[in-house]
Amino acid sequence: MIQATQLRKGMCIQHDNELFRVVATQHVTPGNWRGMVQAKIRNLRTGAIIEHRFRSEDRVERAILDENEMEYLYQDGDMFHFMNSETFDQVALSAETLGDAVPYLTPNIRLKVDKRNPSYHPIEDAGQNVDVPSLLYPLRETSIIYCSDCHSGSSGSNSFETRGPHGSNWPFLLEKPYSIADGTVESYQEYELCYKCHDRNVILSDGSLGLHKTHVVDENVTCSTCHDPHGISATQGNATHNSHLMNFDISVVAPDPNTGMLMFEDLGSNRGRCYLACHGAVHSPAEY
Ligand code: HEC
Ligand code: HEC
Ligand code: HEC
Repeated sequence: MIQATQLRKGMCIQHDNELFRVVATQHVTPGNWRGMVQAKIRNLRTGAIIEHRFRSEDRVERAILDENEMEYLYQDGDMFHFMNSETFDQVALSAETLGDAVPYLTPNIRLKVDKRNPSYHPIEDAGQNVDVPSLLYPLRETSIIYCSDCHSGSSGSNSFETRGPHGSNWPFLLEKPYSIADGTVESYQEYELCYKCHDRNVILSDGSLGLHKTHVVDENVTCSTCHDPHGISATQGNATHNSHLMNFDISVVAPDPNTGMLMFEDLGSNRGRCYLACHGAVHSPAEY
């Protein structure tokens, strides 16, 4: 329990048997009246904001949410998904509910590169795929890579290698350019980060039935529209739906209007099926 005067923006409290987050407070001391705390509080269940006047001497139940127990997993539209790392229960909270916390949320990279996942870039352990024809020598399917293979000082002509992982010309402290802008016209430069380890000719020629060339070159679809550079948390997918680092960028791709599904389905070696809608193209499903 805390005194109403101790209420601060951002705190969670229990009030009328519901959970609220304090949005704003104001102390009012009208003349010789008792002090009041005028508070704007947001109901965490309904999202509604109400105003409530507490008397200064009121005691309020502070709700300590197990903040450390909840790991942020991923964003899906306006909703942010969290997992209780002990019970594995998942909850989704809206951007509105999270308020000021949103800019500080970073998807839990540890969960994404976990070797129990359906797919991941091989940082913790060798990868899941035994057939990755694009790998450039000396990389192999059994290779291990490091965060710093992608995140480090940029090697462009006007940068300093000595800045290490703390300075780069490219967003996300990436070592080389990697365009995530929808509609990017493909070139070696735009996806240099990926082409440093994956042979551009093989990707675009290619083993997976022309799938890459059709999308990346002919339709200007970025790698990031289909692939996640880290991996897919096991809480977010499974071996058939999120293999091959597949995780559609939902700012570009929408569910297929006929089935309501937004999904990649792995049908075995170099075969798969997609359900989605993208720039007017509807896959309901499309198979390769
Ligand atoms: C430092 C080297 C390196 C870089 C940079 C790199 N990759 Fe990889 N990638 C690998 C290795 C090694 C594998 C093989 C893992 C395996 O066998 O499962 C791999 C595998 C993959 C796979 C296949 C995964 C699967 O399970 O089928 C995809 C897709 C992929 N990379 C996409 C990308 C994209 C997109 C980029 C650019 C953001 C990128 N890679 C950058 C080293 C790299
Ligand atoms: C294969 C290349 C690659 C590797 C390896 C890699 N990253 Fe990333 N990372 C990226 C790319 C590309 C982005 C930005 C674009 C995106 O998120 O789609 C990114 C973004 C990030 C971000 C910004 C938040 C986010 O997820 O968008 C953080 C933090 C991060 N990486 C941390 C790490 C850590 C920690 C490791 C090692 C465990 C790691 N990365 C390994 C390619 C990589
Ligand atoms: C339209 C969605 C889509 C886009 C865009 C896309 N990929 Fe893929 N990629 C896939 C799918 C699906 C597979 C799995 C193919 C299979 O084995 O069934 C794949 C497989 C791969 C593999 C593993 C097989 C191999 O050829 O070595 C790599 C590496 C890869 N992609 C890299 C990239 C890079 C780099 C880009 C951007 C230049 C990119 N992809 C763009 C859908 C996409």
